[in-house]
Amino acid sequence: MERWSDFRSDTVTKPTEAMRRAMAEAEVGDDVLGDDPTVQKLEALAAEIMGKEAALYVPSGTMGNAVAVKVWTRELEEVIVEARSHIYNMESTHLTFISRVNPRPLPSRRGAMDPEDIARNIRQASVHTPRTSLICLENTHNNWSGAVIPLENMKATREVADRFGVKIHLDGARIFNASIASGIPVKEYAKLVDSIMFCLSKGLSAPVGSMLAGPKDFIDQARRVRKALGGGMRQAGVLAACGIIALTQMVDRLKEDHDRAKRLAKAIAELPGIILNPEEIETNIVIFGLNHPRWSIPAFLEELKKRHILALPVSRGIRFVTHKDVNDEDIDRAIEAFQQLLSF
Ligand SMILES: Cc1ncc(COP(=O)(O)O)c(C=O)c1O
Repeated sequence: MERWSDFRSDTVTKPTEAMRRAMAEAEVGDDVLGDDPTVQKLEALAAEIMGKEAALYVPSGTMGNAVAVKVWTRELEEVIVEARSHIYNMESTHLTFISRVNPRPLPSRRGAMDPEDIARNIRQASVHTPRTSLICLENTHNNWSGAVIPLENMKATREVADRFGVKIHLDGARIFNASIASGIPVKEYAKLVDSIMFCLSKGLSAPVGSMLAGPKDFIDQARRVRKALGGGMRQAGVLAACGIIALTQMVDRLKEDHDRAKRLAKAIAELPGIILNPEEIETNIVIFGLNHPRWSIPAFLEELKKRHILALPVSRGIRFVTHKDVNDEDIDRAIEAFQQLLSF
């Protein structure tokens, strides 16, 4: 059977052999009753890596974000979000559906909102207006082609948040990608926010799960909200065991994904019809526009599929994501297909 080159997402990564062994050997208990030593080990490790008091294992990044917003906010409040952020666009409206808060989307420069623009948009409670209680950031920023949000921008945002007494939650689904690309330890990013969610199940290749980290009283409350949302998991140690491997063995190799994404971007950017600045590719996500006389986006994706190459359409074009389960040959095969299909 011919190999598939699957660039749809880093969520397609399969668990490693070490993970499968760890699953078989994991010591487990009923985590809802506080009895699973492997989950506890993962939570302690996650808190330590992020420099936070405590952490909570959640089934998905979406649940981690939803729980964080629910704990930090009340009804009749407003949350500042970046206009293209995952939390605002791709999480089935939990800000309104679960937390019953008003999202206030702001524009950005490649995912980094202007801190003074944030300051101008923070509102005080009145009979007409909601109080702003939370700012949500995303680093790296998925829909801005995996852009790394600069630490300086986050520092300035922290100053604004402190000036107005507002909390910050970071959707750090790919915070390790940000750290590998910038050379800045994840703790430095986490220090600037009140809570951080990060995913084990994307580039780090665990089969399931994300972590939410923050102050102890926040995590205590988050544990209750997780249960209310149906996220209490019993012998979850079989999954948490993979999370421990994700955090201890899988972080450094993210650089390979970044190198491959940059190579792909450089090669295809020169081709007719591709709208892409390869200099902007910093991590593992390559988003580009397509304006070609022979191809619509659906037809082009269909043609790639015939060649066993998978990618996803996004609002601004097509998204390719590199990860552990695509290698240099997959990149070569994609570049060759692009050259054949787009050249005149
Ligand atoms: C930036 C970002 N945040 C959150 C999530 C949600 O993670 P999950 O798919 O585990 O719910 C994703 C998933 O792709 C994401 O890209």
